[in-house]
Amino acid sequence: MELGGAFTIFLALYLSCLLILIAWKRTNKGGKLPPGPTPIPFLGNLLQVRTEGTFQSLMKLHEKYGSVFTVYMGPRPVVVLCGHEAVKEALVDQADDFSGRGEIASIERNFQGYGVALANGERWRILRRFSLSILRDFGMGKRSIEERIQEEASYLMKEFWKTKGAPIEPTFFLSRTVSNVISSVVFGSRFDYEDKQFLNLLQLINESFIEMSIPWAQLYDMYSGIMQYFPGRHNRIYYLIEKLKDFIASRVKINEESLDPQNPRDFIDCFLIKMHQEKNNPHTEFNLKNLVLTTLNLFFAGTETVSSTLRYGFLLLMKYPEVEAKIYEEINQVIGPHRIPSVDDRSKMPYTDAVIHEIQRLTDIVPMGVPHIVIRDTQFRGYFLPKGTDVYPLLGSVLRDPKYFCYPDAFYPQHFLDEQGCFKKNEAFVPFSSGKRVCLGESMARMELFLYFTSILQNFSLHSLVPPADIDITPRISGFGNIPPIYKLCLKAR
Ligand code: HEM
Repeated sequence: MELGGAFTIFLALYLSCLLILIAWKRTNKGGKLPPGPTPIPFLGNLLQVRTEGTFQSLMKLHEKYGSVFTVYMGPRPVVVLCGHEAVKEALVDQADDFSGRGEIASIERNFQGYGVALANGERWRILRRFSLSILRDFGMGKRSIEERIQEEASYLMKEFWKTKGAPIEPTFFLSRTVSNVISSVVFGSRFDYEDKQFLNLLQLINESFIEMSIPWAQLYDMYSGIMQYFPGRHNRIYYLIEKLKDFIASRVKINEESLDPQNPRDFIDCFLIKMHQEKNNPHTEFNLKNLVLTTLNLFFAGTETVSSTLRYGFLLLMKYPEVEAKIYEEINQVIGPHRIPSVDDRSKMPYTDAVIHEIQRLTDIVPMGVPHIVIRDTQFRGYFLPKGTDVYPLLGSVLRDPKYFCYPDAFYPQHFLDEQGCFKKNEAFVPFSSGKRVCLGESMARMELFLYFTSILQNFSLHSLVPPADIDITPRISGFGNIPPIYKLCLKAR
């Protein structure tokens, strides 16, 4: 027994030394990474970077080590970028160097580097160009993206009217409508709100986003090398995403059976046509894996981000009813009570535009950004990052950069207004990130946020079940994503 114990200790020590050596070698491939807290064997900086508050821990280290520092996520060194200047210098000024996608360990098993959001190199370039062109074409085609959103918003209004001012929990009201916008682009049609399969998909997306943000996922991100072999909560996300993949694969099959190459109905059809055109190219990236996973990227990213922002936005507007009242005033002046809001109205509604920007800034849906890597050996601020070094651009630190926002932690729409009340851009507004990997759905998301907020507030006033001062806006979970608290509200018809 004692011998067994000694052997275990020896093995643990041996493994630790080995992992440190690997980490050390990675760091010192002729590289000089920025300084940071000293890692301990195998655990890296686990003592400084708490898995239940990774972003907050990194912000603490930012105070001590400045805008650019290195932390060890387990044995893996990660260069962390904080504040507008550092993030801009990397993602914009050295855009190409920093354009690689880092691994998101919790979902790597599902994606394995396929699909536009997690791909790298030529695969990513091809998929990104293709996806952008399809989103644009479907925007300019028979029915614009704007019209699709307007139609969906009108369905949502009907649902809200049915509630007759009774308390509701808004999550699925919002995710159904938002998801239908991207669904109509990728699947060619919207889902009925009562469709059981649709509700199931939304549940899967909602849960996956939560699973990616809980401490288990952060722990897995640090120790996936070992944890992947053990049972535990970290495996749950794998099964959730596999179910989403199965659904998309079944939709691809349906499309394939009824495909008319002269008449593409949606993103899947366009991809299938490209697959047929390139069927004799053995190196083509237009294959089934990339089709299913890129469609999943669009469907997932197009649903959860916008609906979480709307959900958070409701909460902020209820906490600050004077802001809601001012938006309503602007709606009345520019749109009136009957006309459906359109994107053209935005430039005439600086206050509403500023509030939506401030909601996005404070909501900070992806606080740590999505991980990047440098695609080649890179000089940055006097340091040397070897090819493949992981980089976290902390978007949350940019959105609250005190140099760019006078009240970084407050809800203050004036951050985006000048003295004359005109809309004022702020270069540190980066909820969609920046540079070559900037969110592919940014313009769609911005249209959605404007059209949904204005349509809802044109027709309803928002009422909290608790006094505004008691509304807690602290995220329910803060990890990869900031998940808004669960709450109920009443929507009273105007
Ligand atoms: C409020 C809404 C949204 C926010 C805050 C948001 C935010 C982001 C962020 C921070 C990234 C990572 C950028 C980087 O790697 O530096 C990203 C990437 C991405 N987003 Fe969005 N997003 C939103 C809506 C959407 C929508 C509606 C779609 C789909 C149409 C979408 C599709 C994507 C895709 C495909 C990527 C990966 C791009 C790439 O790797 O090249 N997003 N988004």
